[in-house]
Amino acid sequence: MNNSDEHAVVVESLIKDYGSLRAVNDVSFTVARGGVFAFLGPNGAGKTTTVEIIETIRRPTSGRVRVLGMDVSRHKNEILARIGVLPQGFCSFDRITVGESIRYYSRLFRRGAADVDSLLDITELRNTRDVLFKDLSGGLKQRLGIAIALVNDPEVVFLDEPTTGLDPHARRGVWDVLRGLKRRGRTVFLTTHYMEEAELLADTVAIISKGRIVASGSPDELIDRHAPFLCLTLRRVGEGTIAVIRRMGFEPVGDARGGVSLRVKHADNVQEILRAIGTAGKPLPGLEVRRPTLEEVYLELTDGKMPDGVCVPGGAA
Ligand SMILES: Nc1ncnc2c1ncn2[C@@H]1O[C@H](COP(=O)(O)OP(=O)(O)OP(=O)(O)O)[C@@H](O)[C@H]1O
Ligand SMILES: [Mg+2]
Repeated sequence: MNNSDEHAVVVESLIKDYGSLRAVNDVSFTVARGGVFAFLGPNGAGKTTTVEIIETIRRPTSGRVRVLGMDVSRHKNEILARIGVLPQGFCSFDRITVGESIRYYSRLFRRGAADVDSLLDITELRNTRDVLFKDLSGGLKQRLGIAIALVNDPEVVFLDEPTTGLDPHARRGVWDVLRGLKRRGRTVFLTTHYMEEAELLADTVAIISKGRIVASGSPDELIDRHAPFLCLTLRRVGEGTIAVIRRMGFEPVGDARGGVSLRVKHADNVQEILRAIGTAGKPLPGLEVRRPTLEEVYLELTDGKMPDGVCVPGGAA
């Protein structure tokens, strides 16, 4: 199998300079076909720059980028015909309706009229076909942007922050659309600041920080690799209970909500701790056990430390 079969996108040693600023610094990664790839990183990390080079909008300073097996420097038009793009901060014409917007953008591709009904269905916009852009809520505007990104029936869809600024309901509405795209076999390249979204939707994530890729893999792999422990939080614990836990070799620290939290390796450790508390005649505490989140791993990888709070040695409130 060659790269064009296996990968939707291949980025190799990509560099982009804006004058003296190196915005993208030797970036390499691949995006498999037919899944959701999430591109994560702090403001100014180089996400949009990288994405716009892949979309053939900007030129790389050096490095190689291939989309569906084609080089971005030599096959711009062929690539544009086979990808869809929702740019960061998407906006359409205020005074045309949802249906008119989709028809207008589909004509730009000169591929005949897109199937407006099916695009309205995919993006769950059927009831807003006749609503003016300016009267749409933020979530509906973003869903229209996704519908427009699909007018040329693309194999790869690039969505740059499609849920930024949306309320939790509207965000979930966009997630449903993204899941639908995945079910239809599209490759979705998602740029987002919401780690929960990446953890829920992405098969693979890549994290970029200051122009460099600092980690990539599935959300589960990244959590297992960078935070291989469980967080145990105990509520309503007295000094005696804390002393019992310390004697077992754990390091409980106070958290912001008046409990203590500690890292344990296995669920078995939780049972051992509870047994020891019971044996010492102390009341059993309120209990919460959880795995670290992608957000905590992200904060460590982009900032060099786990966030303050639950389950962090030294993170006492
Ligand atoms: N056209 C440009 N000319 C000069 N500098 C630019 C240009 N576009 C982006 N930059 C700079 O390049 C760096 C990377 O910007 P980029 O927009 O790629 O980051 P980003 O990761 O998408 O950030 P955000 O999360 O805020 O969207 C930033 O320092 C930005 O100011
Ligand atoms: Mg950006």
